[in-house]
Amino acid sequence: MKILLIGGGGREHALAWKIVQSQRVSQLWVAPGNGGIVGEFTSRGEPVECVDIGAEDLPALIAFALEHKPDLTVVGPDNPLSMGVVDLFKEHDLPIWGPNQMAAQFESSKVFSQDFMARHNIPTARSGTFDFPTAAKSFAAELDGKCAIKADGLALGKGVLLSKTIDEAESAIDLMMVEQQFGEAGNSIVIQEFLEGVEVSLHILTDGRSYVLFPTSQDHKRAFDGDEGLNTGGMGTYSPAPFLNEAELESIKRSVVEPWLQGCEAEGIDFCGILYPGLMLTDDGPKVLEFNARWGDPETQAYLMRLETDLVDLFEACVDRRLAEMDVKWKEEAAVCVVMASGGYPGSYQKGKLIEGISDAESVDTVKVFHAGTILKDGELVTNGGRVLGVTALGDTIEKACTEAYGAVDKIRFDGAHVRRDIAAKALVK
Ligand code: AMP
Ligand code: GLY
Repeated sequence: MKILLIGGGGREHALAWKIVQSQRVSQLWVAPGNGGIVGEFTSRGEPVECVDIGAEDLPALIAFALEHKPDLTVVGPDNPLSMGVVDLFKEHDLPIWGPNQMAAQFESSKVFSQDFMARHNIPTARSGTFDFPTAAKSFAAELDGKCAIKADGLALGKGVLLSKTIDEAESAIDLMMVEQQFGEAGNSIVIQEFLEGVEVSLHILTDGRSYVLFPTSQDHKRAFDGDEGLNTGGMGTYSPAPFLNEAELESIKRSVVEPWLQGCEAEGIDFCGILYPGLMLTDDGPKVLEFNARWGDPETQAYLMRLETDLVDLFEACVDRRLAEMDVKWKEEAAVCVVMASGGYPGSYQKGKLIEGISDAESVDTVKVFHAGTILKDGELVTNGGRVLGVTALGDTIEKACTEAYGAVDKIRFDGAHVRRDIAAKALVK
């Protein structure tokens, strides 16, 4: 079976690594891939091929697919989904896994998501959606300025501003709606009350009819230890996150997942893919902060180390609408992923730094180093992005996985490498 995977970050390296473990895969192309994906092989010994096509270059992607006829295409990032890559491939009868453009709105429009949650009584923060700054400001005043102010559209993960006072809230509203800091993404906004609590990531695989709720995971969004510094794409994850027991997860299925799926059915939204809600565990129970319509990055790196089931079988079952037949199995072990980033990230940073020590780090068989921003230049592996590597380890406990992951991190070197030293620390508090 021939597969095309769209994307080139750490998530896609993890997806590629797991896809080629399937005995059924004879060929994997990744567009555009990265310096680590290019070193993977199928179980039949065929090298994974990185194709020089950007994940958002829909005309080139469809031309490639029409020529090479992949049996399945898998989409990693949010942008091609929101641009309608799934609709485009389906128009050409090419099998593809991921939500269509309408369904991808759960991520591409925060206003759409927030209104959907209101229509279907899904627990979320007290909130409002606004097209004009005056109404937005009076709602922010009702919340005493303690708000999360969110640009409607995709804004590279930067479109959420948190405020503690009415002044801060008004400046944030002006920044989005008047000064248009995020361009058109800020023409409409969502304002939520500021929620306190522990944040966890959920992943739900669905074919639009039935669903599978994954174990929990937790991301670390801020750049520095102790959740200080700017928001990033994610500096590390682990799974499982020990903040929800089985009974609480069952209750989340009933309060969040099932109303969401029934809501989709009632509104004619055909969601085939991963729904990834960001959840805040508050004193008043779990509340949805946002929905993403794809795998989390770096949640995927931790999840796929734990997944036992053949991922290609799962993707196919979704596309064929027979997910209900599948039994999804997870390893008992915990996984921890520590991101090594370029110095300066999420602000400006340099590229092209030589990376050394990865094979030494991977000499332990419970460790896998997933590449995100890397590239091979003249045979040497160098940095090529903000998040460079996701050093991931399995262990009998979170503590052991953590020790393994940091042991591996300490064997890898590149100039200016930045690592958070407290990934999974919240899970280890006794
Ligand atoms: P989002 O992209 O909507 O998940 O927001 C990015 C980050 O902002 C989240 O991961 C939270 O840490 C924070 N955040 C979002 N909404 C809220 C909220 N209502 N209260 C507190 N923090 C929030
Ligand atoms: N882990 C953060 C994200 O994928 O959006």
